[in-house]
Amino acid sequence: MKTQVLPVNEESLALGGKILREGGLVGMPTETVYGLGANALDAKAVLSIFAAKERPADNPLIVHVASVDQVPQLVREIPPAARALMDAFWPGPMTLVLPKADCIPHEVSAGLDTVGIRLPASGAARALIAAAGCPVAAPSGNRSGRPSPTTAQHMLEDMDGRIPLILDGGACEVGVESSVIDATGDVPVVLRPGGVTAEMIRDVLGRVQVDEHVMSPLEEGEAARSPGMKYKHYAPKAKTVIYEGEAERVIAAICARYDGAEAAGERVAILGFDEHDFGARTRISLGHAACPQEAASKLFAALRELDERGETLALCEAVDMAGIGLAVMNRMGRAAAFDIVHV
Ligand code: TXA
Ligand code: MG
Repeated sequence: MKTQVLPVNEESLALGGKILREGGLVGMPTETVYGLGANALDAKAVLSIFAAKERPADNPLIVHVASVDQVPQLVREIPPAARALMDAFWPGPMTLVLPKADCIPHEVSAGLDTVGIRLPASGAARALIAAAGCPVAAPSGNRSGRPSPTTAQHMLEDMDGRIPLILDGGACEVGVESSVIDATGDVPVVLRPGGVTAEMIRDVLGRVQVDEHVMSPLEEGEAARSPGMKYKHYAPKAKTVIYEGEAERVIAAICARYDGAEAAGERVAILGFDEHDFGARTRISLGHAACPQEAASKLFAALRELDERGETLALCEAVDMAGIGLAVMNRMGRAAAFDIVHV
């Protein structure tokens, strides 16, 4: 199969809508990451997502809608807290886990009684969903175990020959996947941090919980509240270590480890901030230390670059865990199997 990459315009949106309606897969730009979309109500189309991604069948998909009006038919109930979050943060980078309606195939929910629903902010995503005329199930558009794609080019690297069309909407603004919020109860629980932060949710509802596994691995045999927590995502081939602490000490520790490893024959790269001085050592930029949103939008491209360059060791500067910094540290932490050195 030849994979076309087309800029977003009326024609390509109409083509994408047609492919989705007929049970095919389309690469969909969103403000978070690129998604691999299929008609969410077509079990066969949904199964082909799992095949194209090589994704385990027990990891459920997020259902994307073009307007709030589509939500009531997809869920059994919208609890008041969920309604307040929808009003405050949709369209936007937030997925709400709600009790699923019968029309959602179990292939989408992976057998769970709940479904994740998202109304994206991206105009291209909403136009594509509207053109399809159906809700669109879409995981991130990477092959399983690879970083989520934040450009059409990244998605092509992973999906070339596997899907007919990727719509190119440019680089994703947020750069990490949506916040996944369990909104089935009174107190919302952050299962995966993202652009709609725990602080933002607390400001609206006065309460929020963050699942303990956002910053720690699951123990052997421990149940995951979100199936995605079980999988080692975003793992570059390089051994990845995060350094956390006061900036001067972090820089010194990274430089020392870098020099030792390089002398021992490793290929080393630093994921670091622009204003920090690492001398002539290889550095992939995470933007400015004071702007965690820059790190969010650069992180997945940086992880891909590590693999392309054939690095064997990656030394990363930690980001402050406030706001979207928690999402950055969650993704970086998982890439590093939570190997975090406190200096
Ligand atoms: O930003 C995003 O969310 C992107 C774009 C394309 O919208 N999509 C995305 O999907 O990241 P995916 O499939 O790569 O990640 C969905 C995560 C998984 O970790 C999954 O386990 C979790 O959401 N999830 C989905 N449905 C769930 C449910 N009913 N209960 C708990 N977790 C759920
Ligand atoms: Mg994913």
